[in-house]
Amino acid sequence: MSEREQWSSKVGFILAAAGSAIGLGAIWKFPYIAGQNGGGAFFLIFILFTILLGLPLLLAEFVIGRTAQDNAVNSYKKIAPGTKWHWVGILGMITSFVLLSFYGVIGGWILIYLFKAITGQLNGLSSEQYTAVFNETIADPLLSIVFQLIFMLFTIIVVSRGIQKGIESASRIMMPALFVLFIILVIRAVTLAGASEGIQFILKPDFSKVTSQTLLDAMGQSFFTLSVGVSVMVTYSSYLPKNQSLPHAAISIVSMNIFIILLAGLAIFPAVFAFHLEPNAGPVLLFNVLPTVFSQLPFGMLFFIAFLVLFLFAALTSAFSLLEIIVSVISNGKPEQRLKWSWILGLAIFALGVPSALSFGILAEVKIFGKTIFDFADYTVSNVLLPFGALLISIFVPLKMKRSLLYSELKKGNWLKKGLFEAWYITIRYVAPPLIVLVMMDVLGIW
Ligand code: TRP
Repeated sequence: MSEREQWSSKVGFILAAAGSAIGLGAIWKFPYIAGQNGGGAFFLIFILFTILLGLPLLLAEFVIGRTAQDNAVNSYKKIAPGTKWHWVGILGMITSFVLLSFYGVIGGWILIYLFKAITGQLNGLSSEQYTAVFNETIADPLLSIVFQLIFMLFTIIVVSRGIQKGIESASRIMMPALFVLFIILVIRAVTLAGASEGIQFILKPDFSKVTSQTLLDAMGQSFFTLSVGVSVMVTYSSYLPKNQSLPHAAISIVSMNIFIILLAGLAIFPAVFAFHLEPNAGPVLLFNVLPTVFSQLPFGMLFFIAFLVLFLFAALTSAFSLLEIIVSVISNGKPEQRLKWSWILGLAIFALGVPSALSFGILAEVKIFGKTIFDFADYTVSNVLLPFGALLISIFVPLKMKRSLLYSELKKGNWLKKGLFEAWYITIRYVAPPLIVLVMMDVLGIW
């Protein structure tokens, strides 16, 4: 398949895969879930799960993708012909579809905030006023749907142009800029009067708040932020040339991800405590706290606008990956089909997301198993479908791929040490499957 697209360089691939990983999960969702789960203890458990499960699974998806060099469904067919394993890819597509449907809602919120910040509607408010603005914004049906649509249109346009031109070139500039701005933000937040309580909140574990639900949340969060469990990373690594080291890429991505999560925590929690806000405020957290911190900086609104642009970008690069996996399967490697399917699928995902968007306003009372539509979609994806997909992948790799083949694929690029390979193999084969099952069963109350 010589006409298959490839990333132009390893840095391009790492940036695009990191772009998929780093998104709303790290910047918006992590702080509020950690805030609801006691802070430091959640962070610690999250890091443990990321090392024990997230990283090995990321590498497993990379190996599948680059061995097969095909999309998320065909890759399984190539490696295990005549079996039902390609359903892992189909499940991944369905999960991505649902995930992107509610992802676009939050993407829309960022756009609304950007619009409000640029037009001066967020200047100099008190923190109660910021909360009020947020609540009004997300409850407004027309506003949230229109901006959700705009977010999806951006996503569709980039994915329809193909991976290299669209995704890679944008990631190259925006990812480093995001890091720099975050560091400025952290410096301001940790030097606020009263910040130390917040620093302790996120860095000092208090295990009294840990329940089996905390474990499931932390596991789901580690899959969510690394984009594993749905074969997105199978798709991305299938575009990577053979001479690049997969373990090196995986470790870089995980480190960047943890680093940005730490920065997000250190930007948000010191400010939460300094301004006497509630760490368990939920989805409002970032949208309330950050404008308050930025208003404490000289040229705060300009910084806030810059932050929103980069945050939007982080969300978009994740959204690209979710649409990309679906489009690449349905258009089946035919470039002439890409444009059409990007639009059809992207708009269908938007339509599915509309009830989620409305669940903060006119559909707020509609509950499924006691959760709003948005929360139900998020919970099903993060805490059921992602762990289940991850479980299947961790069974698939040692079962259907020879150990020697895995070793030689992972060794390409001459970076991997034998001991590291053994550790990975043992984890993926013997640790990951039972651990995922245990955490899931524990929450269902099965044992
Ligand atoms: N990782 C992204 C985030 O944290 C979301 C995401 C993109 C994702 N692609 C994914 C999550 C694939 C799971 C699977 O915002």
